[in-house]
Amino acid sequence: MSCYTIERGDPARRQRVAGWLDGLDQVSPETREAIITAWVTTWTSSPFETLEDMPYSLHAPSYRLMDHVNEVTRAGLDLAKRAARDWGRTTEPDVLVPILILHDIDKPLLMVREREVVRGSTLSKELPHGVPGAMLLRELGFGHRIVSTVATHATNAPFHGSTTEAWLLHYADLFATDHALMSTGGKPFYQRHWA
Ligand SMILES: [Fe+2]
Ligand SMILES: [Fe+2]
Repeated sequence: MSCYTIERGDPARRQRVAGWLDGLDQVSPETREAIITAWVTTWTSSPFETLEDMPYSLHAPSYRLMDHVNEVTRAGLDLAKRAARDWGRTTEPDVLVPILILHDIDKPLLMVREREVVRGSTLSKELPHGVPGAMLLRELGFGHRIVSTVATHATNAPFHGSTTEAWLLHYADLFATDHALMSTGGKPFYQRHWA
């Protein structure tokens, strides 16, 4: 038994995913196809009928995961340009772009919607966010740098990686997350006090 089944999907389903995702033009053809297969897999293994149905999180269930993913990709690509030009912190598109597009690949498996209420799935009590995604990406042949960054990107992960990609993903993700939280009436991370 597995928490997902690898699924390439028919051309129409692959086209739905390809037409949604920003950043696919910046990676090699093989990486592009693997990214599409990853999203087709969690979509078809999830309870959500359409991409539009997928919620961003339990904290902002009315926000679409579709929008969050592209917002993180675009913000991450903008930050990558600044980091390279201002500080010489360069990244490879074939590593950074999959990390941005796929960081939340397991979210459709971690939530269910019942009578318009979104709650955590059974899997969400078995594996933390990031881990099922990393398992899937490993199985699809993505490199260790991508797999380990996705595995540890969550704000509550025990640690975050020390690579430029992990740093860029963190800020792109939190920047876009705060927008999702503020636009749905939640408290953004930048206004939270931990003490
Ligand atoms: Fe995440
Ligand atoms: Fe995210």
